[in-house]
Amino acid sequence: MGRIHRLTDELANQIAAGEVVERPSSVVKELVENALDAGATRVVVDVEQGGTTLVRVCDDGEGMTPDDAVLCLERHATSKISRFTDLADLGTFGFRGEALPSIASVSRLTLRTRPRGSNEGVDVVVEGGGKPAISPSGGAVGTTIEVRDLFFNVPARRKFLKATATESAHVSDVLLGMALARYDVTFVLTRDGRPVREHLRVASRADRARGVMSSDGTSLVECRAERGAIRIEAMLAPPERARAGATGLSILVNGRPVRDRQLVRAVSQAYGSVLEAGRYPLGVVWIDVPPEVVDVNVHPQKAEVRFSDARGLFDAITRELHASLAHAFGLPSLGAHPQAPIARMPVTTLRAMDGAAREAIAAVRAVADAERALFPETNLFAGERREEQGTESAEQRIRDSEFGGGYSALRYVGQIRGTFLVCEGDDGMYVLDQHAAAERVTFERLKKSYAMRGVAMQRMLVPEVVELTPSDVALLEENAEEVSRLGVEVRAVGDSAVAVHGVPDLLVRAEPQRLVRDLVAEVSRTAGRPFRGAVDLVLATMACHGSIRAGDAISAAEVTALLRALDEVDFAGHCPHGRPLVMRMTFSELERKVGR
Ligand SMILES: Nc1ncnc2c1ncn2[C@@H]1O[C@H](COP(=O)(O)OP(=O)(O)O)[C@@H](O)[C@H]1O
Ligand SMILES: [Mg+2]
Repeated sequence: MGRIHRLTDELANQIAAGEVVERPSSVVKELVENALDAGATRVVVDVEQGGTTLVRVCDDGEGMTPDDAVLCLERHATSKISRFTDLADLGTFGFRGEALPSIASVSRLTLRTRPRGSNEGVDVVVEGGGKPAISPSGGAVGTTIEVRDLFFNVPARRKFLKATATESAHVSDVLLGMALARYDVTFVLTRDGRPVREHLRVASRADRARGVMSSDGTSLVECRAERGAIRIEAMLAPPERARAGATGLSILVNGRPVRDRQLVRAVSQAYGSVLEAGRYPLGVVWIDVPPEVVDVNVHPQKAEVRFSDARGLFDAITRELHASLAHAFGLPSLGAHPQAPIARMPVTTLRAMDGAAREAIAAVRAVADAERALFPETNLFAGERREEQGTESAEQRIRDSEFGGGYSALRYVGQIRGTFLVCEGDDGMYVLDQHAAAERVTFERLKKSYAMRGVAMQRMLVPEVVELTPSDVALLEENAEEVSRLGVEVRAVGDSAVAVHGVPDLLVRAEPQRLVRDLVAEVSRTAGRPFRGAVDLVLATMACHGSIRAGDAISAAEVTALLRALDEVDFAGHCPHGRPLVMRMTFSELERKVGR
Protein backbone atom coordinates (compact mmCIF):
# COMPACT_ATOMS: atom_id res chain seq x y z
CA MET A 1 0.00 0.00 0.00
CA GLY A 2 1.35 3.44 -0.94
CA ARG A 3 1.41 6.12 1.69
CA ILE A 4 0.40 8.94 -0.59
CA HIS A 5 -3.26 9.81 -0.95
CA ARG A 6 -5.20 12.79 -2.22
CA LEU A 7 -6.43 15.35 0.28
CA THR A 8 -10.19 15.36 0.57
CA ASP A 9 -11.84 18.42 -0.95
CA GLU A 10 -12.91 19.45 2.51
CA LEU A 11 -9.37 19.43 3.82
CA ALA A 12 -7.97 21.10 0.70
CA ASN A 13 -10.53 23.89 1.10
CA GLN A 14 -9.75 24.37 4.74
CA ILE A 15 -6.08 24.67 3.90
CA ALA A 16 -6.86 27.20 1.17
CA ALA A 17 -9.00 29.06 3.70
CA GLY A 18 -5.86 29.57 5.72
CA GLU A 19 -4.55 31.73 2.88
CA VAL A 20 -7.72 33.46 1.80
CA VAL A 21 -9.68 33.89 5.01
CA GLU A 22 -7.73 35.51 7.76
CA ARG A 23 -10.56 37.19 9.63
CA PRO A 24 -14.15 38.40 9.10
CA SER A 25 -12.98 41.36 7.04
CA SER A 26 -11.41 38.97 4.51
CA VAL A 27 -14.83 37.38 4.08
CA VAL A 28 -16.31 40.82 3.52
CA LYS A 29 -13.64 41.60 0.96
CA GLU A 30 -14.17 38.42 -1.04
CA LEU A 31 -17.95 38.69 -1.00
CA VAL A 32 -18.02 42.36 -1.93
CA GLU A 33 -15.53 41.76 -4.74
CA ASN A 34 -17.77 39.00 -6.07
CA ALA A 35 -20.76 41.33 -5.91
CA LEU A 36 -18.88 43.98 -7.88
CA ASP A 37 -17.69 41.38 -10.39
CA ALA A 38 -21.35 40.44 -10.83
CA GLY A 39 -22.18 44.01 -11.86
CA ALA A 40 -23.87 45.13 -8.65
CA THR A 41 -24.81 48.79 -8.30
CA ARG A 42 -25.72 48.49 -4.64
CA VAL A 43 -23.97 46.36 -2.04
CA VAL A 44 -25.23 46.02 1.52
CA VAL A 45 -22.93 44.55 4.14
CA ASP A 46 -24.26 43.53 7.54
CA VAL A 47 -21.97 42.34 10.29
CA GLU A 48 -22.69 41.16 13.80
CA GLN A 49 -20.08 40.91 16.54
CA GLY A 50 -17.44 42.33 14.22
CA GLY A 51 -18.36 39.69 11.64
CA THR A 52 -17.42 36.78 13.87
CA THR A 53 -21.01 35.57 14.20
CA LEU A 54 -22.38 36.98 10.94
CA VAL A 55 -21.24 38.55 7.70
CA ARG A 56 -23.98 39.08 5.16
CA VAL A 57 -23.41 40.63 1.75
CA CYS A 58 -26.39 41.39 -0.41
CA ASP A 59 -26.07 42.59 -4.01
CA ASP A 60 -28.28 43.46 -6.97
CA GLY A 61 -25.89 41.92 -9.49
CA GLU A 62 -26.59 39.39 -12.20
CA GLY A 63 -27.22 36.46 -9.83
CA MET A 64 -26.56 32.79 -10.60
CA THR A 65 -28.52 29.94 -12.05
CA PRO A 66 -29.26 27.07 -9.64
CA ASP A 67 -26.51 24.97 -11.25
CA ASP A 68 -23.94 27.73 -10.92
CA ALA A 69 -25.01 28.35 -7.35
CA VAL A 70 -23.89 24.83 -6.47
CA LEU A 71 -20.83 24.81 -8.69
CA CYS A 72 -19.48 28.09 -7.33
CA LEU A 73 -18.90 26.37 -3.99
CA GLU A 74 -16.52 23.91 -5.58
CA ARG A 75 -12.83 24.44 -5.67
CA HIS A 76 -11.40 26.19 -8.72
CA ALA A 77 -14.84 26.95 -10.08
CA THR A 78 -14.91 30.41 -11.62
CA SER A 79 -16.70 32.22 -14.41
CA LYS A 80 -13.94 34.81 -14.70
CA ILE A 81 -11.07 33.25 -16.59
CA SER A 82 -10.80 30.22 -18.79
CA ARG A 83 -7.25 30.41 -20.11
CA PHE A 84 -3.95 31.62 -18.71
CA THR A 85 -3.71 34.60 -21.05
CA ASP A 86 -6.97 35.96 -19.60
CA LEU A 87 -4.93 36.88 -16.54
CA ALA A 88 -3.07 39.53 -18.52
CA ASP A 89 -6.08 41.78 -18.86
CA LEU A 90 -8.23 40.78 -16.00
CA GLY A 91 -11.34 42.94 -15.69
CA THR A 92 -12.52 41.40 -12.42
CA PHE A 93 -11.37 41.26 -8.82
CA GLY A 94 -11.59 37.48 -8.61
CA PHE A 95 -10.20 34.75 -10.81
CA ARG A 96 -8.98 31.90 -8.61
CA GLY A 97 -12.32 30.34 -7.81
CA GLU A 98 -11.13 29.77 -4.28
CA ALA A 99 -12.99 32.22 -2.09
CA LEU A 100 -16.43 30.68 -1.77
CA PRO A 101 -15.33 27.07 -1.19
CA SER A 102 -12.72 28.27 1.31
CA ILE A 103 -15.18 30.38 3.25
CA ALA A 104 -17.79 27.62 3.13
CA SER A 105 -15.29 25.15 4.59
CA VAL A 106 -14.80 27.18 7.77
CA SER A 107 -18.29 28.56 8.43
CA ARG A 108 -22.01 28.00 8.08
CA LEU A 109 -22.78 29.50 4.70
CA THR A 110 -26.11 30.24 3.05
CA LEU A 111 -26.25 31.45 -0.53
CA ARG A 112 -29.47 32.82 -1.94
CA THR A 113 -29.46 33.85 -5.56
CA ARG A 114 -31.72 34.55 -8.50
CA PRO A 115 -30.41 35.34 -11.97
CA ARG A 116 -31.67 38.25 -14.00
CA GLY A 117 -34.59 37.30 -16.25
CA SER A 118 -35.64 34.30 -14.20
CA ASN A 119 -38.36 33.73 -11.66
CA GLU A 120 -36.52 30.90 -10.03
CA GLY A 121 -34.20 31.44 -7.20
CA VAL A 122 -32.32 28.94 -5.10
CA ASP A 123 -30.96 28.59 -1.59
CA VAL A 124 -27.79 26.62 -0.99
CA VAL A 125 -26.71 25.84 2.55
CA VAL A 126 -23.31 24.41 3.49
CA GLU A 127 -21.97 23.70 6.99
CA GLY A 128 -18.23 23.50 7.39
CA GLY A 129 -17.67 22.52 3.77
CA GLY A 130 -20.03 19.54 3.92
CA LYS A 131 -22.54 18.53 1.27
CA PRO A 132 -24.68 21.46 0.07
CA ALA A 133 -28.42 21.40 0.80
CA ILE A 134 -30.35 22.95 -2.09
CA SER A 135 -33.90 24.29 -2.08
CA PRO A 136 -35.90 26.61 -4.32
CA SER A 137 -36.52 30.13 -3.05
CA GLY A 138 -38.06 33.43 -3.96
CA GLY A 139 -36.15 36.66 -3.43
CA ALA A 140 -35.01 39.52 -5.59
CA VAL A 141 -32.62 39.32 -8.53
CA GLY A 142 -29.09 39.25 -7.22
CA THR A 143 -27.20 37.35 -4.60
CA THR A 144 -27.11 37.31 -0.82
CA ILE A 145 -24.45 35.34 0.96
CA GLU A 146 -24.60 34.83 4.69
CA VAL A 147 -21.57 33.58 6.55
CA ARG A 148 -22.21 32.60 10.16
CA ASP A 149 -19.87 31.49 12.93
CA LEU A 150 -16.61 31.90 11.10
CA PHE A 151 -14.03 29.26 12.13
CA PHE A 152 -16.65 27.42 14.25
CA ASN A 153 -14.94 24.18 13.19
CA VAL A 154 -11.35 25.49 13.44
CA PRO A 155 -10.95 26.49 17.10
CA ALA A 156 -7.29 27.32 16.64
CA ARG A 157 -8.18 30.02 14.10
CA ARG A 158 -11.14 31.25 16.05
CA LYS A 159 -8.88 31.90 19.00
CA PHE A 160 -6.86 34.36 16.95
CA LEU A 161 -9.78 36.63 16.25
CA LYS A 162 -9.47 39.95 18.02
CA ALA A 163 -11.99 41.88 20.07
CA THR A 164 -15.21 42.74 18.27
CA ALA A 165 -14.20 46.37 17.93
CA THR A 166 -10.99 45.46 16.13
CA GLU A 167 -12.69 43.08 13.73
CA SER A 168 -15.39 45.69 13.05
CA ALA A 169 -12.74 48.20 12.31
CA HIS A 170 -11.07 45.91 9.79
CA VAL A 171 -14.44 45.49 8.12
CA SER A 172 -14.84 49.26 7.87
CA ASP A 173 -11.38 49.54 6.34
CA VAL A 174 -12.18 46.94 3.70
CA LEU A 175 -15.40 48.72 2.87
CA LEU A 176 -13.55 52.00 2.60
CA GLY A 177 -11.16 50.46 0.08
CA MET A 178 -14.02 49.09 -1.99
CA ALA A 179 -15.85 52.40 -1.88
CA LEU A 180 -12.71 54.12 -3.18
CA ALA A 181 -12.38 51.46 -5.86
CA ARG A 182 -15.92 51.96 -7.16
CA TYR A 183 -17.42 55.43 -6.82
CA ASP A 184 -20.28 54.36 -9.10
CA VAL A 185 -21.64 51.81 -6.63
CA THR A 186 -23.62 52.44 -3.46
CA PHE A 187 -22.24 50.77 -0.35
CA VAL A 188 -24.09 50.37 2.92
CA LEU A 189 -22.65 48.92 6.12
CA THR A 190 -24.69 47.98 9.15
CA ARG A 191 -23.26 46.74 12.40
CA ASP A 192 -25.39 44.72 14.81
CA GLY A 193 -28.46 46.08 13.08
CA ARG A 194 -27.41 49.72 13.16
CA PRO A 195 -26.42 51.55 9.96
CA VAL A 196 -22.84 52.81 10.31
CA ARG A 197 -21.75 53.76 6.78
CA GLU A 198 -23.53 54.76 3.65
CA HIS A 199 -21.62 55.76 0.56
CA LEU A 200 -24.13 56.65 -2.14
CA ARG A 201 -22.94 56.35 -5.69
CA VAL A 202 -21.33 59.56 -6.92
CA ALA A 203 -20.04 60.94 -10.20
CA SER A 204 -16.27 60.81 -9.75
CA ARG A 205 -13.38 59.46 -7.74
CA ALA A 206 -12.80 62.91 -6.32
CA ASP A 207 -16.36 63.08 -5.01
CA ARG A 208 -16.00 59.66 -3.44
CA ALA A 209 -12.75 60.65 -1.75
CA ARG A 210 -14.36 63.78 -0.31
CA GLY A 211 -17.30 61.69 0.85
CA VAL A 212 -15.35 58.98 2.63
CA MET A 213 -12.96 61.40 4.28
CA SER A 214 -15.95 63.31 5.74
CA SER A 215 -14.61 66.21 7.73
CA ASP A 216 -11.12 65.76 6.30
CA GLY A 217 -12.48 65.86 2.78
CA THR A 218 -12.74 69.60 2.44
CA SER A 219 -9.04 70.25 2.52
CA LEU A 220 -8.09 67.67 -0.11
CA VAL A 221 -6.29 68.89 -3.18
CA GLU A 222 -7.10 67.21 -6.44
CA CYS A 223 -4.12 66.17 -8.58
CA ARG A 224 -4.21 64.62 -12.02
CA ALA A 225 -1.27 63.68 -14.15
CA GLU A 226 -0.25 61.46 -16.97
CA ARG A 227 3.17 60.26 -17.89
CA GLY A 228 3.36 57.91 -20.84
CA ALA A 229 0.89 55.18 -20.16
CA ILE A 230 0.73 55.94 -16.44
CA ARG A 231 -2.29 57.86 -15.16
CA ILE A 232 -2.29 59.28 -11.68
CA GLU A 233 -5.23 60.80 -9.89
CA ALA A 234 -5.02 61.86 -6.29
CA MET A 235 -6.85 63.66 -3.53
CA LEU A 236 -4.27 64.67 -0.95
CA ALA A 237 -4.35 66.65 2.26
CA PRO A 238 -1.96 69.47 3.17
CA PRO A 239 1.34 68.45 4.78
CA GLU A 240 0.26 69.54 8.26
CA ARG A 241 -2.33 66.76 8.26
CA ALA A 242 0.39 64.15 7.83
CA ARG A 243 0.43 61.29 10.29
CA ALA A 244 3.08 59.10 11.81
CA GLY A 245 1.68 55.98 10.12
CA ALA A 246 0.52 55.28 6.61
CA THR A 247 -3.01 54.34 7.68
CA GLY A 248 -4.51 57.57 6.38
CA LEU A 249 -3.21 57.05 2.87
CA SER A 250 -5.16 54.82 0.50
CA ILE A 251 -3.53 53.72 -2.73
CA LEU A 252 -5.32 51.92 -5.52
CA VAL A 253 -3.64 50.37 -8.54
CA ASN A 254 -5.88 49.74 -11.49
CA GLY A 255 -8.85 50.10 -9.21
CA ARG A 256 -7.64 47.69 -6.52
CA PRO A 257 -6.77 48.85 -3.01
CA VAL A 258 -3.15 47.88 -2.36
CA ARG A 259 -0.74 48.10 0.57
CA ASP A 260 2.66 48.68 -0.87
CA ARG A 261 5.41 50.38 1.10
CA GLN A 262 7.26 51.53 -1.98
CA LEU A 263 4.20 53.24 -3.38
CA VAL A 264 3.54 54.88 -0.03
CA ARG A 265 7.10 56.15 -0.08
CA ALA A 266 6.80 57.45 -3.61
CA VAL A 267 3.69 59.42 -2.64
CA SER A 268 5.21 60.73 0.60
CA GLN A 269 8.29 61.92 -1.21
CA ALA A 270 6.14 64.06 -3.45
CA TYR A 271 5.79 66.38 -0.44
CA GLY A 272 9.56 66.82 -0.32
CA SER A 273 11.26 67.97 2.83
CA VAL A 274 8.16 69.48 4.45
CA LEU A 275 7.21 66.00 5.64
CA GLU A 276 9.40 65.04 8.53
CA ALA A 277 10.92 61.58 8.32
CA GLY A 278 8.40 58.92 9.24
CA ARG A 279 5.31 61.01 8.54
CA TYR A 280 2.85 60.06 5.85
CA PRO A 281 0.29 62.11 4.02
CA LEU A 282 -3.46 61.72 4.28
CA GLY A 283 -5.47 61.07 1.14
CA VAL A 284 -6.16 58.77 -1.76
CA VAL A 285 -4.06 58.01 -4.84
CA TRP A 286 -5.32 56.09 -7.83
CA ILE A 287 -2.68 54.79 -10.19
CA ASP A 288 -3.71 53.34 -13.51
CA VAL A 289 -1.18 51.51 -15.60
CA PRO A 290 -1.53 49.16 -18.57
CA PRO A 291 -2.42 45.74 -17.16
CA GLU A 292 0.64 44.11 -18.68
CA VAL A 293 3.06 46.10 -16.51
CA VAL A 294 1.49 45.12 -13.20
CA ASP A 295 1.28 41.70 -11.65
CA VAL A 296 -1.61 41.54 -9.22
CA ASN A 297 -1.06 37.87 -8.82
CA VAL A 298 1.61 38.05 -6.16
CA HIS A 299 -0.58 37.31 -3.16
CA PRO A 300 -3.96 35.58 -2.86
CA GLN A 301 -5.31 38.55 -0.98
CA LYS A 302 -3.86 40.72 -3.69
CA ALA A 303 -2.79 43.46 -1.34
CA GLU A 304 0.67 43.55 -2.91
CA VAL A 305 1.57 44.32 -6.47
CA ARG A 306 4.65 43.98 -8.61
CA PHE A 307 5.56 46.31 -11.45
CA SER A 308 7.79 45.68 -14.41
CA ASP A 309 9.43 49.12 -14.25
CA ALA A 310 9.00 49.93 -10.59
CA ARG A 311 11.67 52.64 -10.44
CA GLY A 312 10.26 54.50 -13.39
CA LEU A 313 6.78 54.31 -11.94
CA PHE A 314 7.78 55.50 -8.48
CA ASP A 315 9.72 58.36 -9.97
CA ALA A 316 6.76 59.36 -12.13
CA ILE A 317 4.45 59.29 -9.11
CA THR A 318 6.75 61.39 -6.95
CA ARG A 319 7.46 64.00 -9.59
CA GLU A 320 3.99 64.31 -11.04
CA LEU A 321 2.32 64.55 -7.66
CA HIS A 322 4.98 66.95 -6.50
CA ALA A 323 4.18 69.30 -9.34
CA SER A 324 0.54 69.56 -8.25
CA LEU A 325 1.26 69.65 -4.54
CA ALA A 326 4.01 72.23 -4.83
CA HIS A 327 1.57 74.49 -6.56
CA ALA A 328 -1.27 73.91 -4.10
CA PHE A 329 0.73 74.03 -0.88
CA GLY A 330 3.68 76.18 -1.92
CA LEU A 331 6.20 73.41 -1.30
CA PRO A 332 9.91 73.88 -1.89
CA SER A 333 11.21 72.08 -4.95
CA LEU A 334 12.54 68.54 -4.78
CA GLY A 335 16.22 67.81 -5.04
CA ALA A 336 17.67 66.12 -8.05
CA HIS A 337 17.29 62.69 -6.49
CA PRO A 338 14.04 62.32 -4.62
CA GLN A 339 15.05 58.84 -3.48
CA ALA A 340 18.27 60.07 -1.90
CA PRO A 341 18.20 60.27 1.89
CA ILE A 342 19.60 63.76 2.11
CA ALA A 343 17.38 66.59 1.01
CA ARG A 344 19.30 69.70 0.06
CA MET A 345 18.23 73.02 1.27
CA PRO A 346 16.22 74.54 -1.55
CA VAL A 347 18.06 77.33 -3.32
CA THR A 348 15.11 79.65 -2.78
CA THR A 349 15.51 79.35 0.96
CA LEU A 350 19.18 80.17 0.71
CA ARG A 351 18.42 83.29 -1.30
CA ALA A 352 15.81 84.47 1.13
CA MET A 353 18.18 84.44 4.05
CA ASP A 354 20.14 87.45 5.09
CA GLY A 355 23.76 87.66 4.05
CA ALA A 356 25.54 86.59 7.21
CA ALA A 357 23.35 83.62 7.87
CA ARG A 358 23.65 82.60 4.25
CA GLU A 359 27.40 82.64 4.42
CA ALA A 360 27.43 80.63 7.61
CA ILE A 361 25.13 78.02 6.15
CA ALA A 362 27.03 77.94 2.89
CA ALA A 363 30.29 77.40 4.76
CA VAL A 364 28.85 74.60 6.84
CA ARG A 365 27.23 73.13 3.78
CA ALA A 366 30.53 73.18 1.90
CA VAL A 367 32.19 71.39 4.77
CA ALA A 368 29.36 68.91 4.87
CA ASP A 369 29.77 68.25 1.17
CA ALA A 370 33.49 67.79 1.53
CA GLU A 371 33.09 65.49 4.50
CA ARG A 372 30.49 63.49 2.71
CA ALA A 373 32.86 63.00 -0.17
CA LEU A 374 35.58 61.82 2.19
CA PHE A 375 33.39 59.80 4.55
CA PRO A 376 30.22 58.81 2.77
CA GLU A 377 28.83 57.54 6.07
CA THR A 378 28.93 60.93 7.69
CA ASN A 379 25.70 62.76 7.19
CA LEU A 380 25.97 66.21 8.56
CA PHE A 381 22.55 67.78 8.30
CA ALA A 382 21.15 64.37 7.69
CA GLY A 383 18.43 65.27 10.13
CA GLU A 384 16.65 67.16 7.39
CA ARG A 385 15.33 63.90 6.09
CA ARG A 386 16.31 60.41 7.06
CA GLU A 387 14.47 57.41 5.82
CA GLU A 388 15.44 54.75 8.28
CA GLN A 389 16.21 55.07 11.91
CA GLY A 390 19.03 53.84 14.01
CA THR A 391 21.50 53.33 11.20
CA GLU A 392 24.10 55.85 12.22
CA SER A 393 27.71 54.92 11.92
CA ALA A 394 30.25 55.42 14.63
CA GLU A 395 31.70 58.50 12.97
CA GLN A 396 28.49 60.40 13.42
CA ARG A 397 28.49 60.08 17.13
CA ILE A 398 29.97 62.73 19.25
CA ARG A 399 30.30 61.25 22.64
CA ASP A 400 30.05 62.69 26.07
CA SER A 401 33.75 62.35 26.57
CA GLU A 402 34.44 64.66 23.68
CA PHE A 403 32.57 67.44 25.37
CA GLY A 404 34.87 68.73 28.00
CA GLY A 405 32.39 70.59 30.15
CA GLY A 406 29.26 69.19 28.56
CA TYR A 407 26.63 71.15 26.73
CA SER A 408 26.28 73.79 29.38
CA ALA A 409 29.88 74.82 28.77
CA LEU A 410 29.01 75.88 25.23
CA ARG A 411 28.59 79.55 24.53
CA TYR A 412 25.48 80.33 22.51
CA VAL A 413 26.24 82.51 19.48
CA GLY A 414 22.96 82.67 17.62
CA GLN A 415 20.19 80.96 15.80
CA ILE A 416 20.27 80.41 12.05
CA ARG A 417 17.44 79.55 9.72
CA GLY A 418 15.16 79.51 12.74
CA THR A 419 16.36 75.96 13.26
CA PHE A 420 20.01 75.64 14.18
CA LEU A 421 21.73 76.86 17.29
CA VAL A 422 25.30 77.88 16.64
CA CYS A 423 27.52 77.61 19.71
CA GLU A 424 31.15 78.02 20.49
CA GLY A 425 33.05 75.47 22.53
CA ASP A 426 36.66 75.32 23.68
CA ASP A 427 37.64 73.25 20.69
CA GLY A 428 35.43 74.50 17.90
CA MET A 429 32.03 75.37 16.57
CA TYR A 430 28.94 73.35 17.45
CA VAL A 431 25.70 73.42 15.52
CA LEU A 432 22.66 71.94 17.24
CA ASP A 433 19.34 71.08 15.74
CA GLN A 434 17.09 72.88 18.22
CA HIS A 435 14.08 70.67 17.66
CA ALA A 436 16.07 67.45 17.90
CA ALA A 437 17.70 68.67 21.10
CA ALA A 438 14.45 69.74 22.74
CA GLU A 439 12.86 66.49 21.68
CA ARG A 440 15.64 64.51 23.27
CA VAL A 441 15.13 66.27 26.56
CA THR A 442 11.36 65.83 26.53
CA PHE A 443 11.77 62.18 25.58
CA GLU A 444 14.06 61.42 28.48
CA ARG A 445 11.76 63.20 30.89
CA LEU A 446 8.74 61.31 29.57
CA LYS A 447 10.61 58.04 29.87
CA LYS A 448 11.54 58.74 33.46
CA SER A 449 8.02 59.74 34.32
CA TYR A 450 6.60 56.65 32.58
CA ALA A 451 8.95 54.35 34.43
CA MET A 452 7.98 55.82 37.78
CA ARG A 453 4.23 55.57 37.80
CA GLY A 454 2.97 56.52 34.40
CA VAL A 455 3.29 59.84 32.69
CA ALA A 456 1.72 62.66 34.68
CA MET A 457 -1.41 63.94 33.03
CA GLN A 458 -2.84 67.39 32.70
CA ARG A 459 -6.62 67.29 32.40
CA MET A 460 -8.10 69.49 29.74
CA LEU A 461 -10.77 71.98 30.71
CA VAL A 462 -12.56 71.47 27.44
CA PRO A 463 -12.07 68.03 25.92
CA GLU A 464 -11.06 68.16 22.29
CA VAL A 465 -12.76 65.87 19.82
CA VAL A 466 -10.52 64.15 17.30
CA GLU A 467 -11.97 62.32 14.32
CA LEU A 468 -10.35 58.99 13.61
CA THR A 469 -11.11 55.90 11.62
CA PRO A 470 -13.21 53.29 13.42
CA SER A 471 -10.20 50.98 13.56
CA ASP A 472 -8.21 53.69 15.30
CA VAL A 473 -10.96 54.25 17.83
CA ALA A 474 -11.13 50.53 18.49
CA LEU A 475 -7.39 50.40 18.92
CA LEU A 476 -7.41 53.16 21.51
CA GLU A 477 -10.23 51.48 23.40
CA GLU A 478 -8.43 48.18 23.43
CA ASN A 479 -5.27 49.77 24.72
CA ALA A 480 -6.99 52.22 27.05
CA GLU A 481 -4.92 51.20 30.03
CA GLU A 482 -1.56 51.55 28.32
CA VAL A 483 -2.65 54.79 26.72
CA SER A 484 -3.52 56.28 30.10
CA ARG A 485 -0.14 55.26 31.45
CA LEU A 486 1.24 57.38 28.64
CA GLY A 487 -0.53 60.35 30.12
CA VAL A 488 -3.28 60.51 27.54
CA GLU A 489 -6.92 60.09 28.35
CA VAL A 490 -9.33 59.57 25.50
CA ARG A 491 -12.92 58.37 25.41
CA ALA A 492 -14.74 57.15 22.34
CA VAL A 493 -17.45 59.43 20.97
CA GLY A 494 -19.43 57.33 18.53
CA ASP A 495 -17.42 54.94 16.42
CA SER A 496 -15.18 57.34 14.57
CA ALA A 497 -14.11 59.99 17.05
CA VAL A 498 -12.61 60.30 20.49
CA ALA A 499 -12.67 63.10 23.04
CA VAL A 500 -9.27 63.94 24.49
CA HIS A 501 -9.64 64.61 28.20
CA GLY A 502 -6.02 64.69 29.22
CA VAL A 503 -2.53 65.08 27.79
CA PRO A 504 0.88 64.56 29.40
CA ASP A 505 1.72 67.65 31.40
CA LEU A 506 5.15 67.74 29.76
CA LEU A 507 3.38 68.17 26.48
CA VAL A 508 0.83 70.85 27.19
CA ARG A 509 2.01 72.82 24.21
CA ALA A 510 1.31 69.89 21.90
CA GLU A 511 -1.75 69.89 19.71
CA PRO A 512 -4.07 67.16 21.01
CA GLN A 513 -5.15 66.38 17.43
CA ARG A 514 -1.68 65.53 16.26
CA LEU A 515 -0.71 63.90 19.50
CA VAL A 516 -3.62 61.47 19.38
CA ARG A 517 -3.24 60.71 15.69
CA ASP A 518 0.42 59.92 16.13
CA LEU A 519 -0.25 57.90 19.23
CA VAL A 520 -2.72 55.82 17.26
CA ALA A 521 -0.28 55.35 14.43
CA GLU A 522 2.44 54.17 16.79
CA VAL A 523 0.13 51.88 18.70
CA SER A 524 -1.24 50.35 15.51
CA ARG A 525 2.26 49.62 14.36
CA THR A 526 2.70 47.43 17.40
CA ALA A 527 -0.45 45.48 16.51
CA GLY A 528 -0.06 41.90 17.65
CA ARG A 529 3.13 42.55 19.55
CA PRO A 530 3.23 43.38 23.22
CA PHE A 531 2.68 47.07 23.70
CA ARG A 532 5.49 47.29 26.22
CA GLY A 533 8.14 46.92 23.53
CA ALA A 534 6.77 49.92 21.69
CA VAL A 535 6.68 52.32 24.61
CA ASP A 536 9.94 54.00 23.73
CA LEU A 537 8.84 54.63 20.19
CA VAL A 538 5.52 56.01 21.33
CA LEU A 539 7.19 58.29 23.84
CA ALA A 540 9.65 59.41 21.19
CA THR A 541 6.84 60.35 18.89
CA MET A 542 5.02 62.15 21.66
CA ALA A 543 8.16 64.02 22.62
CA CYS A 544 8.30 65.33 19.12
CA HIS A 545 5.15 67.35 19.75
CA GLY A 546 5.75 68.99 23.05
CA SER A 547 9.12 70.28 21.97
CA ILE A 548 10.30 73.46 20.39
CA ARG A 549 10.06 72.99 16.67
CA ALA A 550 12.28 74.02 13.83
CA GLY A 551 11.23 77.55 13.00
CA ASP A 552 10.24 78.47 16.55
CA ALA A 553 11.87 81.54 17.97
CA ILE A 554 14.02 80.78 20.98
CA SER A 555 15.49 83.12 23.55
CA ALA A 556 19.05 82.98 24.86
CA ALA A 557 17.69 81.96 28.25
CA GLU A 558 15.77 79.09 26.68
CA VAL A 559 18.91 77.94 24.90
CA THR A 560 20.85 77.98 28.15
CA ALA A 561 18.12 75.93 29.81
CA LEU A 562 18.11 73.54 26.91
CA LEU A 563 21.86 73.06 27.01
CA ARG A 564 21.73 72.41 30.73
CA ALA A 565 18.89 69.94 30.31
CA LEU A 566 20.85 68.09 27.64
CA ASP A 567 23.59 67.45 30.14
CA GLU A 568 21.05 65.84 32.44
CA VAL A 569 19.71 63.34 29.97
CA ASP A 570 21.41 60.14 29.01
CA PHE A 571 23.12 61.51 25.99
CA ALA A 572 23.97 59.68 22.81
CA GLY A 573 24.19 62.64 20.49
CA HIS A 574 20.93 61.77 18.84
CA CYS A 575 17.32 62.75 19.12
CA PRO A 576 15.00 59.86 20.05
CA HIS A 577 14.19 59.28 16.39
CA GLY A 578 17.83 58.60 15.73
CA ARG A 579 18.73 61.85 14.05
CA PRO A 580 22.05 63.34 15.07
CA LEU A 581 21.34 66.52 16.96
CA VAL A 582 24.70 68.13 17.02
CA MET A 583 27.48 68.74 14.53
CA ARG A 584 30.93 69.85 15.53
CA MET A 585 33.65 71.48 13.51
CA THR A 586 36.93 71.89 15.34
CA PHE A 587 38.82 75.13 14.97
CA SER A 588 41.64 73.34 13.21
CA GLU A 589 39.21 71.93 10.65
CA LEU A 590 37.71 75.35 10.24
CA GLU A 591 41.12 76.86 9.62
CA ARG A 592 41.96 74.17 7.14
CA LYS A 593 38.68 74.70 5.32
CA VAL A 594 39.13 78.42 4.91
CA GLY A 595 42.71 77.93 3.77
CA ARG A 596 44.61 79.36 6.70
N1 LIG B 1 -22.39 37.74 -5.70
C1 LIG B 1 -22.27 36.97 -6.79
N2 LIG B 1 -23.07 37.17 -7.86
C2 LIG B 1 -22.96 36.39 -8.96
N3 LIG B 1 -22.06 35.38 -9.09
C3 LIG B 1 -21.25 35.14 -8.07
C4 LIG B 1 -21.31 35.91 -6.86
N4 LIG B 1 -20.39 35.42 -6.02
C5 LIG B 1 -19.76 34.41 -6.67
N5 LIG B 1 -20.27 34.24 -7.90
C6 LIG B 1 -19.83 33.23 -8.88
O1 LIG B 1 -19.12 32.24 -8.19
C7 LIG B 1 -17.83 32.06 -8.75
C8 LIG B 1 -16.84 31.69 -7.68
O2 LIG B 1 -16.60 32.75 -6.81
P1 LIG B 1 -15.24 32.81 -6.00
O3 LIG B 1 -15.11 31.55 -5.24
O4 LIG B 1 -15.18 34.08 -5.25
O5 LIG B 1 -14.15 32.78 -7.13
P2 LIG B 1 -13.71 33.93 -8.16
O6 LIG B 1 -14.31 35.20 -7.72
O7 LIG B 1 -12.24 33.91 -8.05
O8 LIG B 1 -14.21 33.47 -9.50
C9 LIG B 1 -17.53 33.37 -9.45
O9 LIG B 1 -16.64 33.19 -10.53
C10 LIG B 1 -18.91 33.81 -9.92
O10 LIG B 1 -19.23 33.22 -11.17
MG1 LIG C 1 -14.23 35.96 -5.81
